[in-house]
Amino acid sequence: MPERKERHTDTLSSVKNIIMVASCKGGVGKSTVAVNLAIALSLEGKKTGLLDADIFGPSIPKLLHAEDTHPQVKSVDGTDLIEPLEKFGIKILSIGFLVDPESALIWRGPMASNALKQLLHQGDWGELDYLIIDTPPGTSDIHLTLIQSLKIRGVVIVSTPQEVALADVVKAIEMFKRENINVPVLGLVENMAWFTPAELPGKKYYIFGKNGCARLSEKYNIPLLGQIPIVQSICEDGDKGSPSVLNANSLEGKEFLNFARNVINKS
Ligand SMILES: Nc1ncnc2c1ncn2[C@@H]1O[C@H](COP(=O)(O)OP(=O)(O)O)[C@@H](O)[C@H]1O
Ligand SMILES: [Mg+2]
Repeated sequence: MPERKERHTDTLSSVKNIIMVASCKGGVGKSTVAVNLAIALSLEGKKTGLLDADIFGPSIPKLLHAEDTHPQVKSVDGTDLIEPLEKFGIKILSIGFLVDPESALIWRGPMASNALKQLLHQGDWGELDYLIIDTPPGTSDIHLTLIQSLKIRGVVIVSTPQEVALADVVKAIEMFKRENINVPVLGLVENMAWFTPAELPGKKYYIFGKNGCARLSEKYNIPLLGQIPIVQSICEDGDKGSPSVLNANSLEGKEFLNFARNVINKS
């Protein structure tokens, strides 16, 4: 329906850059990276939104300690708009705000796609420099829905440096490049790049291999936007709902900020 289409373009019409955060495997730290990227962009003075499109396993509410958020719906000129949560300087919407994250798991594909479209197109995003979208692992219907219905500025691919993970990254790079998809790959983020124990801050243990993403970035001529170490505090900060980038003096806080600056330079 034309009227609906018009409304659709409206809520995202003042969003300058939509960036997807993707990974080939689950558990590589995609949501952690998406949350810290969004907050870092805001710390860099950019108006930023964060959409949790991991419809089947939304973890943004937990990572931001916002599990009890129930966004308000307001009517503007006869259209219902969903008011994003504003926290840490960013606007946030997640399917986890609308349903219990555990019941999201049993949703069927079309229900999930519809819920996602609602968050995107009825979210009162306003003016944004960046909308960061945290996606489910792999390349799913959700990715296709996003790619087909939005003008995506680019995708950031998160991986660990492990060979088995990198093989899948190559597949994802090729998929995003395909003619009918054609989404620019802004770059790679190597998460869990090395382990630094809290009591030995000068030490680096390359648990998942060394510089795997750096090698891939050279081979495919794709920028390496950041290398984030494994540190216990990233895990603990996630569980506390207080993202690590807020601690700007920490090693990991600096790495997240550096990564966000690289994203700004490439977009
Ligand atoms: N660099 C890191 N150092 C330590 N723990 C991390 C790091 N990145 C992610 N984690 C932890 O790993 C787990 C999975 O991260 P998450 O962001 O939920 O991954 P994904 O979204 O890819 O499934 C979480 O418990 C998170 O706190
Ligand atoms: Mg996740």
